[in-house]
Amino acid sequence: MKKPVNPFITAGYYGAVYFCDRENETKTMLQNTTNGLSTTLVAIRRIGKTGLIKHVLGKLPSDYTSVYIDILPTEKMNDFLNTLVTAVMNSIPQRSGTGKTIMNFIKSLRPVITYDPLTGMPQATIDVRQGENEKHIESVFKYLDKYPKNVVIAIDEFQQILEYPEKNTDAWLRSSIQSLRNVIFIFSGSRQHLMRDLFADPTRPFYRSTSLLNIGKIDSDAYTSFIIRHFKNNGRKITENIVKEMLDWTDVHTYYVQLLCNKVFAAGHKEITSEKWKSEAHKLLEEEEILFLKYRELLTKQQWQLLKAIAREGQVYSPTSKDFVSKHSLGSPATVLRSLEALLKKQMIYTNYDPDKKMFYKVYDLLLRRWLEE
Ligand SMILES: Nc1ncnc2c1ncn2[C@@H]1O[C@H](COP(=O)(O)OP(=O)(O)OP(=O)(O)O)[C@@H](O)[C@H]1O
Ligand SMILES: [Mg+2]
Repeated sequence: MKKPVNPFITAGYYGAVYFCDRENETKTMLQNTTNGLSTTLVAIRRIGKTGLIKHVLGKLPSDYTSVYIDILPTEKMNDFLNTLVTAVMNSIPQRSGTGKTIMNFIKSLRPVITYDPLTGMPQATIDVRQGENEKHIESVFKYLDKYPKNVVIAIDEFQQILEYPEKNTDAWLRSSIQSLRNVIFIFSGSRQHLMRDLFADPTRPFYRSTSLLNIGKIDSDAYTSFIIRHFKNNGRKITENIVKEMLDWTDVHTYYVQLLCNKVFAAGHKEITSEKWKSEAHKLLEEEEILFLKYRELLTKQQWQLLKAIAREGQVYSPTSKDFVSKHSLGSPATVLRSLEALLKKQMIYTNYDPDKKMFYKVYDLLLRRWLEE
């Protein structure tokens, strides 16, 4: 794998060296997969789900092969078919045997091949009659099931299938993968309540069909050593205290930790001080300011006030309580409840559980939270 210029990756996966910890999660997922058990990964946005999937796929034993698809941009079953076929073409060798059979099948669907302008990878677009997408997706699965290696299909942002105009997509998918023997799945998603609806609701087809794995933040100590190691390996000085300050500011939320470390590293300082990292953090907020001002325009006054109040508290347990409502002059609990629902729906805030299993509300975007606090 190509060595990145900056050791703090903010997009993609560059191998285990640049990947911090997640040892238990990796072990669990590998164990599930190699024992024929599919895994469902659920976690808030930007915590490291995609990175973890790539990490796990990279560690599969040699008698396994994998197909990764991100279905977030897909809107209908035909998009799903195209995404799947493209990924299969790009990850299953087609020279001989089953690979060739799969390729012949794909060719029989008369795909139009274009090349991704960024990566140069071929992309397939298949035009089929309505209602035929399902049949072709099933065929792709069946061919993969005959592949001489075990196949792991990872479907990222899986909850997106709920947005398709086709009905009962989960029921159809569940039944079409049920008979597969050599194909194991990894489902991942960030819309936590949708993922829970899909996998943890006894009335839904996927109920109990996979092992559920919730991932949280990376352990702070492990992250501290990781950050210090990468700065030191590149001849930079940084102390544990400074790293701790940076982890506090980013709330140990993976993407933001990576982003801040990336900027601080890129600034080229030989020795990192409080002033230096804070100056980079400030620049990050400045860069986003236009976007944040846009949010303010798009939200109602009540929603904006509530968002600000949640940002200032960091973590809020009872946003409709008298104390919270009056402290931040939010009007009435009923207004707060309405705004709360709107902010959740817009994914401006999220809910999660603390170690004592108590539910709290938090602003989703850490940079927005820090900006609102100021
Ligand atoms: N364990 C890790 N160590 C270091 N960097 C990581 C780790 N996990 C993820 N990252 C990096 O953090 C960023 C966010 O991770 P990733 O995209 O995997 O999160 P995600 O949960 O899939 O987010 P989204 O919900 O937006 O899809 C990426 O740049 C990724 O490279
Ligand atoms: Mg992701």
